[in-house]
Amino acid sequence: MGEQQEEFAIRVRDLVVGFGRQTVLDHLSLDVRRGEILGLVGASGGGKSVLMRTIIGLIPRRGGTIEVMGQPIGGRTQGAATAWGILFQQGALFSSLTVRQNVQFPLRENLVLSQELMDEIAIAKLEMVGLRAQDADKYPAELSGGMTKRVALARALALDPPILFLDEPTSGLDPIAAGDFDALIRTLQGTLGLTVFMVTHDLASLTTVCDRVAALADGKIVAIGPMRELLQSEHPWVRAYFHGKRSQMLQHEMR
Ligand SMILES: Nc1ncnc2c1ncn2[C@@H]1O[C@H](COP(=O)(O)OP(=O)(O)O)[C@@H](O)[C@H]1O
Ligand SMILES: [Mg+2]
Repeated sequence: MGEQQEEFAIRVRDLVVGFGRQTVLDHLSLDVRRGEILGLVGASGGGKSVLMRTIIGLIPRRGGTIEVMGQPIGGRTQGAATAWGILFQQGALFSSLTVRQNVQFPLRENLVLSQELMDEIAIAKLEMVGLRAQDADKYPAELSGGMTKRVALARALALDPPILFLDEPTSGLDPIAAGDFDALIRTLQGTLGLTVFMVTHDLASLTTVCDRVAALADGKIVAIGPMRELLQSEHPWVRAYFHGKRSQMLQHEMR
């Protein structure tokens, strides 16, 4: 295995994705290092979710190459579902299934395991994300927002993937629940050695959890680096974005 394959979990080169006449991603390139938590920021409707879905093979591309864990993702093939876990933006759980059944869903789809083993795995994953075995028999309607995100996370981790994709995981949570979720991501990343690719607008997540932050504007990654470097970026969109965020934060502190 070459050095580059060792170093990067995801390599995207010259990616072009569009719908009809609209070009969403325009010769975008991005490297995600193994074991890092990379945050992705960008304007609403700018293509953050499209980028994530294209990397995992759910959206076809018009050009460019994508490699995940050293394996090329084909234009049509979806790659190995076991290479990643995903928490989608509209990451709804299946409302007619219990928590346990939700977490077991990827196991059922991909493996043949005894019910006993699947039950053990489900409980282990729930405990890993800070839930209790008693929560396993609840239905999604009986869960708080923070618990729902944790169940979705347990489901994403069901197949022990090396990469975790999170699409705005803390949006809609109160600041305390969001902070707890961030701490959980950091802990899981550290203990499981996960690579995490996270779309977020949450300034606290960007500064405390992400090793690096990438900014998507005009269909490209226009800046990437540790948060302190992004704050120094000269790119007009990046400046405007973080300047706005900073002033929001200052206003908040002055209240
Ligand atoms: N399946 C689709 N078909 C057509 N247009 C889409 C599809 N998915 C996303 N788009 C468009 O692509 C653009 C980027 O969307 P998205 O990636 O969801 O933005 P965001 O950065 O907010 O996550 C938007 O203009 C959206 O309308
Ligand atoms: Mg989105």
